[in-house]
Amino acid sequence: MNATDSVFQSYGRCCRNEQFFKDFYSFFMDSSDEIRQRFVNTDMAAQRHLLRNGIMQLILVARGMSDRKLRALGESHNRHNFNINPAWYTLWLNALMKAVNKHDPEYDRDLDAQWREVLHPGIELIRGAY
Ligand code: HEM
Repeated sequence: MNATDSVFQSYGRCCRNEQFFKDFYSFFMDSSDEIRQRFVNTDMAAQRHLLRNGIMQLILVARGMSDRKLRALGESHNRHNFNINPAWYTLWLNALMKAVNKHDPEYDRDLDAQWREVLHPGIELIRGAY
């Protein structure tokens, strides 16, 4: 199986449990007070739902789908809008991998590396729009 297929299936296993997204946000917010601050007024139930779709977009773009929706995320996260510090994407990805580790029973070092490789271009597209 190629890396994008492995990651697609791993994400399917993670998505079976809403706790995956709850854990992601708690790991992500624990990684920086500044990040926690960004979500104080956010409806987290809605945000978890939006993120579920956002991660799917990152994977689908790696599988060759149009990057139109990621370009819109680049716009919403740039300096003129949410003003998301480009350095925070590393924390974002590390928190995501911590949640995958916790929720995917098939997680191992190879799968971790595949996730990072597959998401990299899409994350760079969003980060690069800063
Ligand atoms: C909103 C995805 C990275 C903070 C959103 C939304 C999505 C999303 C789908 C809702 C749609 C929108 O408003 O445009 C992603 C993805 C990321 C990422 C896929 C990584 C590649 C980050 C990072 C931060 C962040 C690193 C840092 C704090 C926010 C905030 C909102 C948001 C503050 C708005 C929350 C609100 O409405 O109150 N993100 N995001 N995001 N994101 Fe991200």
